[in-house]
Amino acid sequence: MPPPALPTIRTDSARGWRARQRSMMEKPETKQPFLTDIKTLRERARQNIGDGGVTFTYEGDVKKAIDILQSVLATELVCVLRYTMHAVAATGISSEGVKAEFKQHAQEEHQHALQVAERINQLGGTPNFNPEGLATRSASEYGHADNLIEMIKENLIAERIAVDHYRELIRYFGDRDPGTRLMLSGILVVEEEHANDMHDLLVAHQGKPML
Ligand SMILES: [Fe+2]
Ligand SMILES: [Fe+2]
Repeated sequence: MPPPALPTIRTDSARGWRARQRSMMEKPETKQPFLTDIKTLRERARQNIGDGGVTFTYEGDVKKAIDILQSVLATELVCVLRYTMHAVAATGISSEGVKAEFKQHAQEEHQHALQVAERINQLGGTPNFNPEGLATRSASEYGHADNLIEMIKENLIAERIAVDHYRELIRYFGDRDPGTRLMLSGILVVEEEHANDMHDLLVAHQGKPML
């Protein structure tokens, strides 16, 4: 019995392929230089001076960037509130070291909130510090822990949420907005440290990691 015939795969004709190659080669070279000359840069900087840091080469969607950063700001503010509450309310044997850690994290989250608010301002937005709707704008939750271990767990979960959220945002901003991306990358490094600190505390106080 003869082997079954192989299916016929349609390919472009050699003539069609050559024609495409020719047209690609004939395509005029792009006139966009890699670097913009100084004169053009200076002229552009003078135009639209009211746009501040959002210059001609900004490739992001400014409105979307501001909306995203408002949510990041809310996330940081909720973290300030949660750590501050924990720093005050934590009780129990050997809670002093944990309280100090919570307090330091609250201060660092506050710094993050300020950085993000500054960036929103640079992009032409008004940072939203309104307490109304803060919890729903935030990616992380305020929580309701009532003992030291629960507090550490809540903070660890919140930090892990922040780390995942910021990694995605860093990918989103990419080359569209390197300034925002760099700011978020700096914050991300601190959030990773925070998550690690909470994990260490959990191991120290509970004897085993939760996650
Ligand atoms: Fe933070
Ligand atoms: Fe954090």
